[in-house]
Amino acid sequence: MPIPQTIAVDGPAASGKSTIAELLAQSLGYLYFDTGVMYRAVTLAALRQLQAVTDERAVTHLAETVHIDVREASQDDGRKSDVLLDGVDITWEIRAPEVDANVSVVSAYPGVRVAMTEQQRRIGKRGRVVMVGRDIGTVVLPDADLKVYMDASVEERARRRFDEVRQRGEAADYEAILASMRRRDEIDSTRKVAPLRPADDAVIVSTDGLSIEQVLEKIQALVKAR
Ligand code: DC
Repeated sequence: MPIPQTIAVDGPAASGKSTIAELLAQSLGYLYFDTGVMYRAVTLAALRQLQAVTDERAVTHLAETVHIDVREASQDDGRKSDVLLDGVDITWEIRAPEVDANVSVVSAYPGVRVAMTEQQRRIGKRGRVVMVGRDIGTVVLPDADLKVYMDASVEERARRRFDEVRQRGEAADYEAILASMRRRDEIDSTRKVAPLRPADDAVIVSTDGLSIEQVLEKIQALVKAR
């Protein structure tokens, strides 16, 4: 059996999916593509150009017109890839708390999802890709060769995000992160279009209490078993 050419990795925020997917892509020599950065880029553009994300029509128009580029990391500062908005590097700006707080609203707009999904499918069609998000196995690449859904408790995910922020040398408030994560989970999993849920044929991997190496081994075993 040939190994899977398209691998979909979905799950909630800070489930470990991007770290694992990046390592998996590296080990296979595949493209690592984190679709969350696209929703974050549109959110940043809306906050900058519209000062808010509440005007659905205006945000959708922005999503259809801004140019988002995701490229191989050009700097060794902890980034997994470069994210460009109309040619300008916004890799770290899209990790700001204001983006975290608004991205679920933006990604619930159906027109924004249509614009992003089209671009993601184009990349997925090329194959040899590990694509990460919330709806890759259910909507973007329903024919993916392997679908993994990674999960962990909200407390563990908030703790991981807290550690990440502190490691970047920024101030972090665990309770605020936990509350923001709960709110995001709620919006992401109850929205009408492409809600966060495992595809029927996804393999569910719980990462609670597991190290990165242990989770990676589990998923590599799934790749070999296909
Ligand atoms: O994975 P992340 O935290 O960077 O994702 C940011 C937001 O984007 C998240 O709140 C949900 C949304 N998202 C989505 O709706 N669909 C995707 N395929 C990826 C992300």
